[in-house]
Amino acid sequence: MRIGILGSGLMGAKLGTIFARAGHEVVFSYSRNEKKLKALAREAGTNARAGTPGEAAQTADAVLLAVHWSRVDEVLSQAGDLSGKVLVSCSLPMNDDDTGLVIAHTSSGAEALAKKARRARVVSAFNTVPSEVLFAVFEAKSKSTRPSLVYCGDDAGGKKVAASLIRDAGFDPVDAGPLRIARYTEPFALLVAQLAYEGKDGPALAYRFERFRERE
Ligand SMILES: NC(=O)c1ccc[n+]([C@@H]2O[C@H](COP(=O)([O-])OP(=O)(O)OC[C@H]3O[C@@H](n4cnc5c(N)ncnc54)[C@H](OP(=O)(O)O)[C@@H]3O)[C@@H](O)[C@H]2O)c1
Repeated sequence: MRIGILGSGLMGAKLGTIFARAGHEVVFSYSRNEKKLKALAREAGTNARAGTPGEAAQTADAVLLAVHWSRVDEVLSQAGDLSGKVLVSCSLPMNDDDTGLVIAHTSSGAEALAKKARRARVVSAFNTVPSEVLFAVFEAKSKSTRPSLVYCGDDAGGKKVAASLIRDAGFDPVDAGPLRIARYTEPFALLVAQLAYEGKDGPALAYRFERFRERE
């Protein structure tokens, strides 16, 4: 696939590099430092190049949104028309100093994004994982046990594309349901980050989800 990266920081740079190494054509965009974008593209290999958000989005089959919440409107306006495009968002609706969510409980960043990019096929994915683990998961992708990664969205085709990108990155995709489920995955992402950054001093986290069924 052709993948446009909107925001080439911690998440966009790593995921773009991973997608390029997995064989996709990648355009890195949206940095204050053009040299950094070019260097990123060089390091990601022959499948990658640097461009503007417009160039990244317009030729793409799928677009990764990986900017701070405060930059979403700007990058969307630079990207142009996203009608019909799969828009995979790892952006969380964080306040300016990254201390809390600005949208939660009765809605989500993913739903707000779907209202901003009305004709795009929005999928929320990759935001429950800290960027620090992405390369290690990708490098271990041939192992039989892969970490799970939840995603959600309302467009079946868009979700299929997102699931294949999640698989390419080395995770086992778990369909959490419609886009409104992001109301639960977005706060969960903060919990995971909090525990991850506590490092060795923090509590160990183990979790397992099972589908509850009525007993017959
Ligand atoms: N980092 C994580 O582990 C993680 C995990 C889950 C979800 N997320 C979410 O993913 C999204 C991206 O996070 P990130 O950590 O990748 O962010 P980041 O490292 O700050 O990257 C943001 C990108 O936006 C670019 N940008 C362009 N103009 C900018 C401006 N005027 N001000 C600030 N940035 C500008 C940055 O450019 P420069 O290259 O010039 O900095 C950078 O490429 C956020 O919504 C975050 O909440 C992050």
